[in-house]
Amino acid sequence: MGGKVIFSKKPRQSVEEIFDREEEIKQLSFLLERNEWVILLGPRMSGKTSLALSVSNTFSNRKTIYVDLVKVKGLKDFINRLYSSIPKNLVDKVRDSLESLGVKIGVASLSFRIRSTTVIEAIIKSICSDTILILDEAQDLKQGINHLIPVFHRLLNSCPSLSIIFTGSAIGLIKTLLEQKGEKPLAGRRPTEIFLKPWSEEIAREYLIEGLDECKVKYNEKEINEVLQELGTLVGWLNIYGVNRCIKPHEGGTKRQYN
Ligand SMILES: Nc1ncnc2c1ncn2[C@@H]1O[C@H](COP(=O)(O)OP(=O)(O)OP(=O)(O)O)[C@@H](O)[C@H]1O
Ligand SMILES: [Mg+2]
Repeated sequence: MGGKVIFSKKPRQSVEEIFDREEEIKQLSFLLERNEWVILLGPRMSGKTSLALSVSNTFSNRKTIYVDLVKVKGLKDFINRLYSSIPKNLVDKVRDSLESLGVKIGVASLSFRIRSTTVIEAIIKSICSDTILILDEAQDLKQGINHLIPVFHRLLNSCPSLSIIFTGSAIGLIKTLLEQKGEKPLAGRRPTEIFLKPWSEEIAREYLIEGLDECKVKYNEKEINEVLQELGTLVGWLNIYGVNRCIKPHEGGTKRQYN
């Protein structure tokens, strides 16, 4: 079932490397084909980043722009991360649009006297045609998201071939994006939610066994049971176990080691 298992600390980038998750791949592909916006939710280490990247990369006619928002410190930091995520062939377009707004483009950051939200809107607008924008761990924007809601609303209207995938592990992300008081900017066009549930024990077992077979280590059933009991069924933890186990013998105390 699913792609070939190769344990690696990097997020997966192609669907051939995604184990299981057929249903979620189908759902996400369906939505992206229609230029929809998506909220991809799941616990830490459930494979959100991998799913978002690998499904987006199947769309060869669209560009994927990935912005890592882990521990982002407000909107200015968001702007710098967004700008530095723009692929080289699009930078000139973004630069022209920013310079027309009086934004100064420095080596490490942008400086400007206008509102941060105006800058964000200008950047996204200038690259939004046929684009999938992944805002990974968007919940870390915290209150910043509130300020961005009107921007998202305008982008929904002005960028028909833009999809945004918001990922996060907190339910707060959905609340902020969908339950704005007063005006209802995204109401009626709410991003569709996809939840990544932890695997069943059976799938997790298959994943571990396939990965260990792939790196040709000898294991027994006791080890597999011990690992599943200690680490649970979230792919990220099993993957870290696998990365280590492919080069070292099995030791007890897995949770202490990796948690
Ligand atoms: N379906 C999958 N099949 C195979 N490997 C996977 C799968 N999903 C994730 N992985 C692997 O598990 C690890 C963790 O996945 P990923 O970083 O995508 O999860 P996450 O939910 O984004 O985690 P975090 O909470 O740390 O952001 C990655 O190294 C990735 O290669
Ligand atoms: Mg992630």
